[in-house]
Amino acid sequence: MTTDTLLIRRSGPLHGTASLSGAKNAALPIMAACLLTEEPSLIENVPRVTDVLSMVDILRRLGVEVTFAADRLSITPGGFRGAVAPYELVSRMRASICVLGPLLARQGTAQVSMPGGCVIGPRPIDLHLKGLATLGATFAIEHGYIVGTAAELRGSRVHLGGAFGSSVLATANVMMAATLAKGVTTIEQAACEPEVVDLANCLVAMGARIEGHGGPIIRVEGVSRLRGVRYRIIPDRIEAGTFMIAAAMVGGDLTIDGARAEHLGAVIDRLSEATVAIEKRNTALRVRASQPPQAVDVTTLPFPGFPTDLQAQMMALMAVARGVSVLTEKVYPERFMHIAELNRMGASIVREGSSAIVKGVERLSGAPVTGSDLRASAALVLAGMAADNQTELTGLDHLERGYQHLEERLVRVGANIQRLSQP
Ligand code: EPU
Repeated sequence: MTTDTLLIRRSGPLHGTASLSGAKNAALPIMAACLLTEEPSLIENVPRVTDVLSMVDILRRLGVEVTFAADRLSITPGGFRGAVAPYELVSRMRASICVLGPLLARQGTAQVSMPGGCVIGPRPIDLHLKGLATLGATFAIEHGYIVGTAAELRGSRVHLGGAFGSSVLATANVMMAATLAKGVTTIEQAACEPEVVDLANCLVAMGARIEGHGGPIIRVEGVSRLRGVRYRIIPDRIEAGTFMIAAAMVGGDLTIDGARAEHLGAVIDRLSEATVAIEKRNTALRVRASQPPQAVDVTTLPFPGFPTDLQAQMMALMAVARGVSVLTEKVYPERFMHIAELNRMGASIVREGSSAIVKGVERLSGAPVTGSDLRASAALVLAGMAADNQTELTGLDHLERGYQHLEERLVRVGANIQRLSQP
């Protein structure tokens, strides 16, 4: 727990080059995938964020040897015996659910604490269980734990569409389990997110037979064993989008090194429509903004739609845009906790069901604020950079779950942010 505060003052324009960390949401399932072999793996470009550290704790609790030096994780499962992901670790991070598939595939048994509610809304795991059950696992809920067993996993046709579309981590779980199942698994309505593709590419490098990843139908032909791997995680597209929106908010000429246009199509489209100039470079994106953006409507959807993980940051941008915009959340319809904090900074936002109606204002006004979750916290950092006076952001544990030294990297390109450390 940190009691640090970020003191954020009006910033910008932003200039220079920002660099990206590896994608947290690719690193987490890839760390779980390392359980599928006894051989050591080396994962590179891993962000040093608390969610990754929580996954390190889970792997160690399972009996796996893990070392984390600079951005490299070395993971040696050997003949690990643990099968329990306990409450105190899972309650820190819901993504711990992605050890379920690998544990069942490798050991035929798994006990994972049932993830609870979450500030961004209900987050059920029915699709994970349905998918793994289709491959032959059986589940019981005992004392708050999912107790799974699978004498043998068998390839099958698995449909993973839910009420809100595809599921990223359910696709990851089923795909991982299917790599060691007998026969062929076809996942229909698979998630197409770049992080799922990165996981599939890592599994293929481990010897898995996977086709179709990146599309809605993934075919996995089971193999008898996988080998260790040396693998480099993709750059974090949500972090890239956060920097792009920061530049759009306070103006400037910012190059985001490592940003991949093919991962950010919907974000580039919406920002361009808002009159932000975005230029694709070889391995970077250049963002230029000199005027308040135009209001644009945004609907979050599974990839290649606009990512829910950038909805809060986009709302901060629309809060200072010219005109009225409607932001509709189709992935997590309750993910609107940041509205109240943005309004405390002078924004004019009204929630209507799963939409937010944002009337752009000329100026935001700095205030003491607390982020309710990771992305809401990032949105408040951006809002603080566009606001008069000082914004004091507390509750930095949320921010640190997914951004590595965000404020330091923003300061390097011209933001006025200071960390006040409490002894
Ligand atoms: N859903 C179900 N049943 C399930 C699983 C999901 O109904 O069994 C629903 C969810 O409630 C939601 C929708 O399906 O409405 C999509 O959820 P999904 O399963 O795709 O989310 P996730 O895999 O648990 C990952 C990211 C999230 C990101 C979502 C959506 C990781 C570790 N987490 O979560 O990232 O918002 O995909 O893109 O990959 C974040 O980084 O801030 C974050 C929350």
